Amino acid sequence: MGIDTGILFQPFETGGLHLRNRFVMAPMTRNFSPGGIPSDGVAAYYRRRAEADVGLIVTEGIGVDHPSALGQESMGGGASPVLHGDAALAKWREIVAGVHQAGGVIVPQLWHQGVIRVPGTGYHPEVPSARPSGIWGPFDGAMVPPDYLQLVREPTAPLTENEIADIIAAFARSAANAKAVGFDGVALHGAHGYLIDSFLWAQTNLRDDGWGGDGPSRARFAAEVVRAVRAATAPDFPIIFRFSQWKLQDYGARNVATPAELEAMLAPIVDAGVDIMDVSTRIWSTPAFEGSDLSLAGWVKKLTGKPAIAVGGVGLSKDLQSSFAQPTVMTNNLPLVAERLASGEFDLVGVGRALLMDPHWVQCMRSGTEVSPFRLEAYASLY
Ligand SMILES: Cc1cc2nc3c(=O)[nH]c(=O)nc-3n(C[C@H](O)[C@H](O)[C@H](O)COP(=O)(O)O)c2cc1C
Repeated sequence: MGIDTGILFQPFETGGLHLRNRFVMAPMTRNFSPGGIPSDGVAAYYRRRAEADVGLIVTEGIGVDHPSALGQESMGGGASPVLHGDAALAKWREIVAGVHQAGGVIVPQLWHQGVIRVPGTGYHPEVPSARPSGIWGPFDGAMVPPDYLQLVREPTAPLTENEIADIIAAFARSAANAKAVGFDGVALHGAHGYLIDSFLWAQTNLRDDGWGGDGPSRARFAAEVVRAVRAATAPDFPIIFRFSQWKLQDYGARNVATPAELEAMLAPIVDAGVDIMDVSTRIWSTPAFEGSDLSLAGWVKKLTGKPAIAVGGVGLSKDLQSSFAQPTVMTNNLPLVAERLASGEFDLVGVGRALLMDPHWVQCMRSGTEVSPFRLEAYASLY
């Protein structure tokens, strides 16, 4: 007899969200929104997953209402959506309604690419890229193609006080729009080296004004974004914050080296009004610090007291980095996930690529039926 995975299919209530099970569709950039407006297939793409019992859908990264938010970033982006303007808002209203009709819950991932944006690209090529200290970061460990590196190598002017204030206001406007079109909360992309994370990381934030310095000082920008989003929405509007150590600039990067540093960095962010922490790792179970088996999601939950989402490699045999290079295979590793969730280490389980390969993945896992195989072509499909 295997370990009981039933707990993963139990409902969960937290921070104003009522979820029918523990599975969260991880945010995945899809590039099917030319001009920033979701194309017709996008509504069906999300609805299909809601109909197939995904507990919470976090959308693809959506550019916040600032001209420097999106560009053609390293993964071949260029048709990411926005959440402002009548046309985009009408589409999102339709997408959200479809998910709700299917019994689903959906939040948008608000995204500012920051240092990762290729200057001179995106919907507003004329504006400079937004960088805390003008730099993209170290080049040695980058997990991006060499031709992309050439395009981001040149330093730009560090963000000014006014520019920082404008971008924070853009997050707030987009969050208010999210609420207005019916989303059930918002998710903030604070990971992977993009703008919020580039303030958190000492290698891209060299500022010695109020926006840089030690861990808690580098967390100020993230905290101000959370505070502004909270003020622009409602006291009970769920806010999910995504945090990672790894970055596109360096898969081995670390914002913090010890649990004490982690606690100090996350405290101001959480205190500003976060309800759920989404902890992005390549493999959900990897021990985060020496001397303990606890995963990063486990540490974040323990140190912040907030419910945590663990993500990375659920339902798959390989991590994200390797799967772009060589196919992985679908694997049922839920017994171990269920055991660690049952122990209280984390509360929710993020699922990215498995749900891209098979929209019915949650139902298949529950019924024990076979899932679609892993295939690289699925990255380019909106099924
Ligand atoms: C095609 C693709 C696009 C992604 N886009 C985003 C994104 O827009 N925002 C984000 O935070 N993470 C993004 N990710 C990372 C996923 O959210 C997730 O953390 C990662 O794929 C690990 O989960 P998995 O092993 O279940 O796929 C993306 C991943 C993939 C495969």
